[in-house]
Amino acid sequence: MDLFEVYKLWDIEPVRGQDTTLWDKDGAEYTDLYGGHAVISVGHCHPHYVKTVSEQLGKLGFYSNAVQNGLQKELALKLGRISGYQDYKLFLCNSGAEAIENALKLASFATGKAKILAFNKAFHGRTSGAVSATDNPKIRAPFNATENVTFVQLGDIAAVEKTLASGEYAAVVLEGIQGVAGIFEASSQFWQQLRELCDRLGVMLIADEIQSGYGRSGKFFAHQHHNVMADIITTAKGMANGFPIGGVLISPKIKAEYGMLGTTFGGNHLACSAAIAVLDIIESQKLVENAARIGEYFKNAFAGPQGLDKALVEYRGRGLMIGLEVKEEYSDLRNRLLFEKHFFTGAAGAKVIRLLPSLTVSEETAQKFINDWKELTA
Ligand SMILES: Cc1ncc(COP(=O)(O)O)c(C=O)c1O
Repeated sequence: MDLFEVYKLWDIEPVRGQDTTLWDKDGAEYTDLYGGHAVISVGHCHPHYVKTVSEQLGKLGFYSNAVQNGLQKELALKLGRISGYQDYKLFLCNSGAEAIENALKLASFATGKAKILAFNKAFHGRTSGAVSATDNPKIRAPFNATENVTFVQLGDIAAVEKTLASGEYAAVVLEGIQGVAGIFEASSQFWQQLRELCDRLGVMLIADEIQSGYGRSGKFFAHQHHNVMADIITTAKGMANGFPIGGVLISPKIKAEYGMLGTTFGGNHLACSAAIAVLDIIESQKLVENAARIGEYFKNAFAGPQGLDKALVEYRGRGLMIGLEVKEEYSDLRNRLLFEKHFFTGAAGAKVIRLLPSLTVSEETAQKFINDWKELTA
């Protein structure tokens, strides 16, 4: 059997990793500023992470959600405390799309409404409900076509108000920072107006923090830069540094009922131990602060007092969720950074280079990237 080829692959096979360094099967060394798409939050093979997960594997890898699981409770307590959402409840699942799926379902249960308002260029994942709220017709099959999702321009509060006024909407869903779209963020004013509208009209505000959350933006969740709280927050990616997991943080105004949500694998012992280790490392190494600091370092180098870098059209993002939109003539820069300088980066379309490194990334590594970038664009 061969693989179903849905991914365009680089011809590089990493076999070993340490913090922000990767080695391929021939021993060549790479610097990882992509983190496997914002997944590596505490660095590859962090010793505390490896120890915690290995020890858990030797004790109990899995049991179903039919029995008590103290690790789930420990994770919920830690996540509540570190994120500032102490009085919310946690539902655990296995991926980002699944977290969105459960968030949409919960909003619909809680309000008795069927419709969702999402934003142009949004990406919320590829399962059925999530892909319906994802504004890319190429990844939406006819089966996923639904009248239940309306797309509005990010920032257009008048259009949001007009749409929600029909009274048919369960939720508004938006990313803390739009990732796949190329790193775009709603303003604080827009977030606050959304919060006010949702409160007034009884609509749930869902913050998709799957890519932007877990410290990446320089606060635990990116929407926390705007002084608002969401009713439902979805997380995944950086949550367990590569071990599959997703989480939904749920406001106390939504009441749980037995059987309302469920999963076989979600919240299993290994996943919880990985997620607990990640929070321990984020806290003890002050990684949210590091994300803010190194983010400023990058920003200063590319869009500081000396002006915008000559290769750039725009510098976007916060902390370690960075979009470098390059001019047309630099559209091969991402490939050159990879093949000539051995830097893994992400992309959004042909002209946005995305940096989504581990939150442990150092100033030296950032400076090396900046130097190599300047050399290639000189
Ligand atoms: C904002 C956002 N939401 C949801 C998802 C889907 O997550 P997953 O690929 O884990 O299903 C992604 C993945 O890139 C994402 O960036």
